[in-house]
Amino acid sequence: MTGRVEGRVALVTGASSGLGKRFAEVLAAEGAKVVVAARRKERLDDLAKAIGADKTFAVQCDVTDEAQVIAMFDAAEQRFGLVDTVVNNAGMTHANNAVTQDIAEFRRIMDLNVTSVWCVAREAARRLIKAGPEKAHHGRIVNIASMAGRIVIPHVTAYNASKAACAHLTRSLAREWARHGINVNALSPGYVATELTEEWLNGEGGAKTIGKSPRRRVMDKGSLDEALLFLCSDGAKYVTGTDVLVDDAQSMG
Ligand SMILES: NC(=O)c1ccc[n+]([C@@H]2O[C@H](COP(=O)([O-])OP(=O)(O)OC[C@H]3O[C@@H](n4cnc5c(N)ncnc54)[C@H](OP(=O)(O)O)[C@@H]3O)[C@@H](O)[C@H]2O)c1
Repeated sequence: MTGRVEGRVALVTGASSGLGKRFAEVLAAEGAKVVVAARRKERLDDLAKAIGADKTFAVQCDVTDEAQVIAMFDAAEQRFGLVDTVVNNAGMTHANNAVTQDIAEFRRIMDLNVTSVWCVAREAARRLIKAGPEKAHHGRIVNIASMAGRIVIPHVTAYNASKAACAHLTRSLAREWARHGINVNALSPGYVATELTEEWLNGEGGAKTIGKSPRRRVMDKGSLDEALLFLCSDGAKYVTGTDVLVDDAQSMG
């Protein structure tokens, strides 16, 4: 541990499983106080216990609900002070082609993968800007997009569109908040085995896709650690509006 995010108060959404859980562990190991958020509170409590109660705080929050998002920031601030680092990680996919998908599912995808990212980032930025330039210029927002925002992954049209929107939302917010010193970047992973992808990766479709990818392998959960830490750190002072692709060449398959 080198304390790359020492002194930061980080909030990670979707921390009850997969990448979000990993991001929370990594940020805490590198010195941040971490607020972990999701709907499954018992999982968050287990995670907070494993990391340590002095470094973590679990908040139950459905990030598609604006009032819950505001309450989450209130609770976080009360526990650790102003949140200066956000990892907008909560996300979902689907298993429907556009022709079989109903509008409610399309809206659910957009609501979580785009609208909630905007809502959580907006709440963080409002509070940072209100706190004044000295605080705001430490602001780091990392939106977890996907290589699916750059290439077309078959059968997940809504997901692809939502992740492309997430990446452009990131650039737009970065422009809007640049003068306040708040940096907004996207991190776009390739395939990592998590609850989101495991079933598909272990099936015929996943095996075929990975078999055709240049390195013929799925990334492990630690593959994003370094990119995440960099984007959350003071070292990324001049980096804003980017979309860092960490996909082990999968998008070139
Ligand atoms: N795994 C991959 O290969 C991959 C590749 C590219 C991008 N990504 C992106 O990485 C992010 C994390 O995915 P993952 O693979 O770690 O999936 P995961 O294990 O399914 O995790 C998704 C997380 O989102 C949370 N979540 C879902 N709906 C929520 C809501 N309404 N409010 C709050 N939290 C909610 C879930 O927690 P609760 O159910 O407890 O709320 C869960 O912790 C997603 O944005 C995904 O699109 C993943």
